[in-house]
Amino acid sequence: MIQVSGVAKSFRSNDVLRGVDLEVRDGETLTVIGGSGTGKSVLLKNMLGLLKPDRGEIRIDGTEITALDETELLHVQQKFGYLFQGAALFDSLTVEENVGFGLHNLTDFDAAKISARVRECLAMVGLKGIQNLKPAELSGGMKKRVGLARAIACQPQYIMYDEPTTGLDPIMADVINELILSLQKQLCVTSIVVTHDMKSAYKISNRIAMLYEGKIIFVGTPDQVRNTTNPVVHQFVEGLSHGPITVDIEKSFNFEDQS
Ligand SMILES: Nc1ncnc2c1ncn2[C@@H]1O[C@H](COP(=O)(O)OP(=O)(O)OP(=O)(O)O)[C@@H](O)[C@H]1O
Ligand SMILES: [Mg+2]
Repeated sequence: MIQVSGVAKSFRSNDVLRGVDLEVRDGETLTVIGGSGTGKSVLLKNMLGLLKPDRGEIRIDGTEITALDETELLHVQQKFGYLFQGAALFDSLTVEENVGFGLHNLTDFDAAKISARVRECLAMVGLKGIQNLKPAELSGGMKKRVGLARAIACQPQYIMYDEPTTGLDPIMADVINELILSLQKQLCVTSIVVTHDMKSAYKISNRIAMLYEGKIIFVGTPDQVRNTTNPVVHQFVEGLSHGPITVDIEKSFNFEDQS
């Protein structure tokens, strides 16, 4: 179980997270939705210990991770598989080396055992016979699926998916949704998904949480989200340009302001 309480994170004058409270229950798929730049990826990175919050606590199975030293943190991080936004494969490594990276570094598996596990994971994501290709030779959808195979290779207890369907065609997006669902069933993993693809969020989630102005303002089942009277959540999930959420285009493009 993951418990996030009062987590705040700023970058210079940019207060991204302003007191996030969120609980991820064992075995569930919890999806975090929210506008671009609201801090969804920053939240995942804090939960994984890749970024350190300025205040607040993060408990992973009861262990408070914000004060751990590097070795202790590494131990906790081994419970996680992480599909980065944009897959983030190592360009100079083959698919086999990418998927086997964690197995090579974190287990005592020999080469044959790693290779067998890599093939098994690639088969799970519907990819066979591409072990020797490099990321540059793959399509966007294939990269995502290789990233997914890498995330599950070490049989993690938790999987974090950052935008697993963004940029994919609708059919490939649904293939990824089905994969996430079947991984939850087959491997009994707890999943945290970040997306603004509402079709995907409704399909794969047990609960959906919305991040807005640095806080989680709503948590509910897909049905509760569909029927919400919360004007912010309603505007977001329906994709309406009018409502309490305003997009300040001028501010968005004023890079000089950010120095
Ligand atoms: N390492 C960093 N250093 C400085 N600022 C950062 C860093 N990482 C993120 N930010 C800032 O934090 C804010 C939130 O970024 P984040 O990537 O979490 O957004 P997001 O909700 O994931 O957006 P998207 O949906 O576009 O992926 C942005 O203003 C971004 O510029
Ligand atoms: Mg992001």
